[in-house]
Amino acid sequence: MEAFIEKAKTLIEALPYIQRFAGKIVVIKYGGSAMIDEDLKLSVIKDIVLMKLVGLKPIIVHGGGKEISYWMDRVNLQTQFIEGLRVTDAETMEIAEMILSGKVNKSLVQLMFQQGMKAVGISGKDGAMINVEKKLVNGKDIGFVGNIKHVNTEVLEVLLNSDFIPIIAPIGLDEKGQSYNVNADDAAGAIASAMKAEKLVFLTDVEGVLLDPYDQRTLITEINVSKAEELIQDGIIAGGMIPKIKCCIDAVNNNVGQVHILDGRVDHSLLLEVFTNSGIGTMMVK
Ligand SMILES: Nc1ncnc2c1ncn2[C@@H]1O[C@H](COP(=O)(O)OP(=O)(O)OP(=O)(O)O)[C@@H](O)[C@H]1O
Ligand SMILES: [Mg+2]
Repeated sequence: MEAFIEKAKTLIEALPYIQRFAGKIVVIKYGGSAMIDEDLKLSVIKDIVLMKLVGLKPIIVHGGGKEISYWMDRVNLQTQFIEGLRVTDAETMEIAEMILSGKVNKSLVQLMFQQGMKAVGISGKDGAMINVEKKLVNGKDIGFVGNIKHVNTEVLEVLLNSDFIPIIAPIGLDEKGQSYNVNADDAAGAIASAMKAEKLVFLTDVEGVLLDPYDQRTLITEINVSKAEELIQDGIIAGGMIPKIKCCIDAVNNNVGQVHILDGRVDHSLLLEVFTNSGIGTMMVK
């Protein structure tokens, strides 16, 4: 009997969080790096299904970095990163779009379907959602990498109003209709701001922001904007964590309620963060 009472307690602990977030938009960036296997993907999808069923409005933005690199390799193309961003020539763009909009996006839609949820997989091209211009890194042209200028939220409103879960691949269009690869963190951040999300969660493949990338005990549980900028300057925050942190900074400055970086490799880290008072991962504050 006691075990049952414990279960009931766990459920009731979620009540204030359900009340707080009901009807609110939560943007989840699901990093390609954390999509290591099907079981894990299913567990993340189940967390999102639960969020949806208790009244939250989840929007998923996914990455696919590892998968793109894998397929680049399969067709003997070189992969190069500058400041955590993929250098994207025309061929890389073609592969990135096939992998993101095709393979990764639809596999998530499919998992949602298997859990009885109506999801619609789109990219930032659909409904002219993500408008970009070429992004320069330290003045350098790194190809078809987009800097988001504007998010047109129309298509997202339509989907949410019709009870669909939007699943978004980070591809955008410039004013001429050229395709651009957009860092998925940038896309999630811009969408969260444009949709006035209550929460933005980055699910990635580390515990959160670490002072020493090789030591999980150095996890920073709460970080503010100036400290984050300092850690980028010092090179402690590097690689793919740079665009992620920059997006966290933009999001808190754009009044997104709460911004978190979580370990997507841990079963149900999303549920724990949203519905319990266990502070896991790194939270960004102003
Ligand atoms: N200080 C730091 N703390 C934690 N991780 C760091 C730090 N500096 C660099 N990193 C790197 O950032 C990586 C996370 O970013 P990455 O872009 O690889 O994943 P993602 O954004 O989740 O996936 P995707 O790019 O496919 O969407 C970590 O795996 C880690 O190697
Ligand atoms: Mg990344």
